[in-house]
Amino acid sequence: MRIIGTGSALPKKVVTNDMLAEFMDTSDEWITTRTGIKSRHVISDENIEDLGAKASRKALDMAGMKPRDIDFFICSNVVTEYMTPGLSSVIGELLGLTCPMIDINCACPGFIFSLDIAESYYKAGKVKNVLIACVEEPTRMASWNDRSTCVLFGDGAGSVVLTAGDNIMATRLHAEPAADKIWQKRKLVSTPFITKEETEFPLQMKGRDVFKFAVNACCHGMDEVLAQAGISKDKVAYYMVHQANQRIIDAIINYMGEPASKFPVNITDHGNTSSASCPILLDECNRKGAFKKGDILAFSAFGAGLLSAEAVIEW
Ligand code: UT7
Repeated sequence: MRIIGTGSALPKKVVTNDMLAEFMDTSDEWITTRTGIKSRHVISDENIEDLGAKASRKALDMAGMKPRDIDFFICSNVVTEYMTPGLSSVIGELLGLTCPMIDINCACPGFIFSLDIAESYYKAGKVKNVLIACVEEPTRMASWNDRSTCVLFGDGAGSVVLTAGDNIMATRLHAEPAADKIWQKRKLVSTPFITKEETEFPLQMKGRDVFKFAVNACCHGMDEVLAQAGISKDKVAYYMVHQANQRIIDAIINYMGEPASKFPVNITDHGNTSSASCPILLDECNRKGAFKKGDILAFSAFGAGLLSAEAVIEW
């Protein structure tokens, strides 16, 4: 497939580190040094589905397509107010889509998992035009009393439209299942038959374990996916890495021995927007005119699961 449209949308409320320090025991200095984050966009009166629809409309406009042209819609999302229907259906209705649509919950690498699914369906001859929307509100998951998690996240949506082409050169999906590294539990409705004890708690994270997994998975994943695509590192124009933590990105740069200028970042004013991170970064770079035709982009993302994924794309 080939990406022919990108779009993104962010909540209007910007929360700076100093604003956080007004109501919790933290500081701009701690957050900046440990994460590189200065501010993040946070949902206030918006609904996440509206941001998903807005990002998707921008991607459709750029692609010169109407909703009826899309024959498959993949929505990547971790948490939404809707338990059913899937967020794809909620956004699909707003957009006026009539094609089949599915939700995936692959946490932060959800965009690359979506690309892999789209490419596989295309290769199987099932689809031609695919819309992917990564739509996330992780600020609704972490406890705002837990300074070690809530300062890391921001909300937003990023979309792409793909059509027939041979620009996805390779994808690689990876899993090291461990539910106790990043997780959140909610209580379902009780029934007369439930005898087990159930608990509900906000996002929990073993930050250091996740940090190590992220650096390892990205570096090895990049080596593998580039070998699969037959591309050497010097041919890569940009490494589009999940914006989780500037220190994670710095460790990856260090290990890979590639110039920092090849790693675009927007973590400073977005924080970690989960699976929306890569497509928001892609859209921002694209709209700034950062890419030229033929540029090789290598994507990598990692997160809960633990899951990670990479993709090599010719622009
Ligand atoms: O998409 C994947 C999602 N997750 C990630 O990418 C997270 C990966 N992990 C990380 O980015 C880092 O592990 C963190 C940024 C989460 C934490 O950094 P760290 O260097 O691993 O710090 P730490 O958790 O070991 O905490 C060090 C200290 C602790 O104080 P004590 O026990 O040493 O007295 C924490 O209580 O920093 C304290 N601390 C804070 N202080 C001020 C934790 N959060 C804060 C905070 N402000 N917001």
